[in-house]
Order: sequence, then structure tokens, then C-alpha cells
Amino acid sequence: MRLVLLGPPGAGKGTQARALGALWGIPQVASGDLLRAVVREDSDLGREAASYMDRGQLVPDDLVLKLVDARLRKEDARPGFILDGFPRNVTQAEALAKGLERYKLKLDKVVAVIVPDEEIVKRISGRRTCRNCNAMYHVMFEPPAKPGVCDKCGGELYQREDDAEETVRERLKVFAETTRPLLAHYDRLGLLAQVNGVGRTDEVEKRILTAVNGVAVPPK
Ligand code: AP5
Repeated sequence: MRLVLLGPPGAGKGTQARALGALWGIPQVASGDLLRAVVREDSDLGREAASYMDRGQLVPDDLVLKLVDARLRKEDARPGFILDGFPRNVTQAEALAKGLERYKLKLDKVVAVIVPDEEIVKRISGRRTCRNCNAMYHVMFEPPAKPGVCDKCGGELYQREDDAEETVRERLKVFAETTRPLLAHYDRLGLLAQVNGVGRTDEVEKRILTAVNGVAVPPK
């Protein structure tokens, strides 16, 4: 399975990509996680990436394409992958298609997860992420057993720099202007399905499975 999850910030792409990746035994490839790893290295490149991310702007395509390409070449992505947050514009989508073509591969499906802006602001303001293993929580909807501590690895939970309300509004604007046109792009290619991203995470997962398989295969 080679799947793209599209959607605005906070739509639940990361949450769903992780769950489906575990179900199918394929990796979640999240361009945001790849970029945050570069930022943590404290290099010139990391500082440059952070200067865009902290303002809610897209990082230049050349860096993102290099990171995603290197990740998709890893052994574990051979049987398939779930792209989360990539592609973000038509240039990235075309680069992805060309890269796959070199190996005679194609995307199987693109699922757009649709969530209204008011719900997004609620979700993002409560999101907490583990510094160590990237596991995700929500202070109200999916709280950890002990506040501030990851259930899975005991790591520290933090709030992302770009989750400040003003930056979230900028990210929503960038999504509307730059990423939303990708829906029409993938629709023209016959790859697009749109699912409602509001509801419990297991309900949204079933909707995605139905969009991909035609039937909802319940999670094991
Ligand atoms: P990125 O890390 O990709 O962030 P994003 O797309 O803005 O998406 P988020 O991670 O905020 O949300 P999500 O949809 O994954 O939702 P989540 O599952 O976390 O990008 C960050 C920045 O990096 C960009 O602004 C840009 O600068 C740069 N970047 C990244 N990719 C790039 C690219 N390709 N090109 C250029 N620049 C790029 O869920 C959110 C919260 O809601 C969580 O707390 C979760 O627990 C909760 N939640 C999830 N599902 C539900 C549900 N059904 N009900 C209630 N709560 C839920």
C-alpha cells in the first residue's frame, strides 16, 4: 500500500498514519517529523528549516524533497508507506510521482481528511508530543495516564513551537492556498477520496479503510 494522507494541520493525519502503519506493517513517513529531526541537530540547515516552521510557512521544496526521498529509499518502505504531510504542493506531488516512476511504482490512493477550522484549533491547542518517541496525546481527548509523561516510553511531553494560535492560523492559510489545490490534482488522476475527520479516532480510521479497501477492515 502506498498511501498519501492529506489534510489541514491538526486533521489527525499523524494519528491515523501511525495507526494504519501499525495495522498494515508499513512505515508512516511524516515530512514534519523528518524536518523536526533536522531542527534538533542544531545545524545551519536546521536553523533555516526552523525559521520557516516557526512562522507556519512551508520549508523550501529542495530540502523537503531530499529528506523524503532518502526516507523512502530505506528498506522498510519497500513494501509500502503512508505519507503524512507530504506532498504539500503540486511541485512536491510531481516530484513524488517521478521518483516512484523510476521504480515502476505508483500511489494507490490519496485520502483527504476533512476537519473544520474550529475543531482544528481545539485539537492543536491540546496536543502534546513525546520528545523521545513522537507519540501523540491530547490533554482532553487522549490524555496520558500521568500528565506530561509519555505512556509508551516515559519521555517528556511537550507542546510544539508552531502550535501557538497565531502560527496555527498561518498554517491554515498556507493549507488553503497551497495544499488544498492538490485535492483537485489527485482527483483528476482518479486517486482522491475524501473522508470526514470528525469523530472518534477509531471511527475515522474505519472511514479511511473503507475509502481505501471498499470495506472497513476492523483494526485487530
Ligand atoms: P507537520 O508536522 O506536517 O504538521 P501539520 O500538517 O500542520 O499537521 P499536524 O502534525 O499539526 O497535524 P496532524 O494532521 O498530523 O494531526 P495529529 O494527528 O497530530 O508540519 C509542520 C511544519 O513543517 C509545516 O508548517 C511546515 O513548516 C513544515 N513542513 C512539513 N511538511 C512539509 C512539506 N511537505 N513541505 C514544506 N514544509 C513542510 O492530531 C492533532 C491533535 O488532535 C492531537 O493532539 C491528536 O491526539 C488529536 N486528534 C487526532 N485525531 C482526533 C480525533 N479524531 N478526535 C479528537 N482529537 C483528535
